[in-house]
Amino acid sequence: MLIRGNHGWGSMDPRKAGDGPDGPDSPWVCVNFAMSADGKLALPDGTPVEISSEEDMLRVHQMRASSDAILVGVSTIVADDPKLHVSPERVREPPALLKVVLDSSGRTPTDARLFDSPGDTLIATVDGTAPGLIERLGDRAEVIPFGPGPMVHLPGLIYHLACRGVQKLMVEGGGETIWSFVSTGLVDEVRCYVGPMVIGGGGSPTPADGPGAEDLSQVIGLELMSAERLGEGMWMRYRVTGRR
Ligand SMILES: NC(=O)c1ccc[n+]([C@@H]2O[C@H](COP(=O)([O-])OP(=O)(O)OC[C@H]3O[C@@H](n4cnc5c(N)ncnc54)[C@H](OP(=O)(O)O)[C@@H]3O)[C@@H](O)[C@H]2O)c1
Repeated sequence: MLIRGNHGWGSMDPRKAGDGPDGPDSPWVCVNFAMSADGKLALPDGTPVEISSEEDMLRVHQMRASSDAILVGVSTIVADDPKLHVSPERVREPPALLKVVLDSSGRTPTDARLFDSPGDTLIATVDGTAPGLIERLGDRAEVIPFGPGPMVHLPGLIYHLACRGVQKLMVEGGGETIWSFVSTGLVDEVRCYVGPMVIGGGGSPTPADGPGAEDLSQVIGLELMSAERLGEGMWMRYRVTGRR
């Protein structure tokens, strides 16, 4: 499935990045993560670290509540087992979001906690993995293949989400997933909380892992929109301007 319309670097206005008069508008895509002051997401072995302050957690849950869908890569499901929900302790009358997992090799555990939280779950996979995943997960989740692989075809997934009415998509990591989205030109905004700690380690996950830029032309430009103190950390918002 190929997405039509302008999903590249030309228009970063989500309302203008649609598919033309006959197609759905692209969702507005925002990446959100918390990193240590030395730019790490977790311990070198992937063990999660509580980087966000309580103030930041409140912000994250409010942001989830104003989104239609939330997305993570399967390694985050395996490492953190997140509920991907809006906490009723932080947000009154929390909405049920669509939860999306990128899982090309079928690693989502059947007892993952996201299956027990409100809202539908979509496992985005690839052609060869879909039949086994459908059988293994049963009615816990909808399983849809996006392309032959080896990875989930993100423009196809975005087009599918647009068709089912998703207008705001929050991408919460991990690093490989964030790099895929940003480097494919699918991200409008990056929101980053920097917690007051140093994790270290050359192999620790960072906010954008994967292969990274191969040369200077592939470096992605950002424009700082705001920076403010939040609890003991800093919270920053960037607009994605595209390749530099
Ligand atoms: N601090 C934070 O805000 C935060 C937030 C989230 C996660 N984390 C941390 O991040 C770490 C996990 O991050 P990660 O970078 O290792 O993995 P990840 O981004 O969570 O998941 C990546 C995996 O998703 C699958 N995938 C399928 N299609 C993909 C595509 N088009 N693009 C990218 N991935 C695709 C691939 O696995 P298959 O080939 O097996 O399908 C890939 O290896 C954990 O340690 C977690 O604690 C931190």
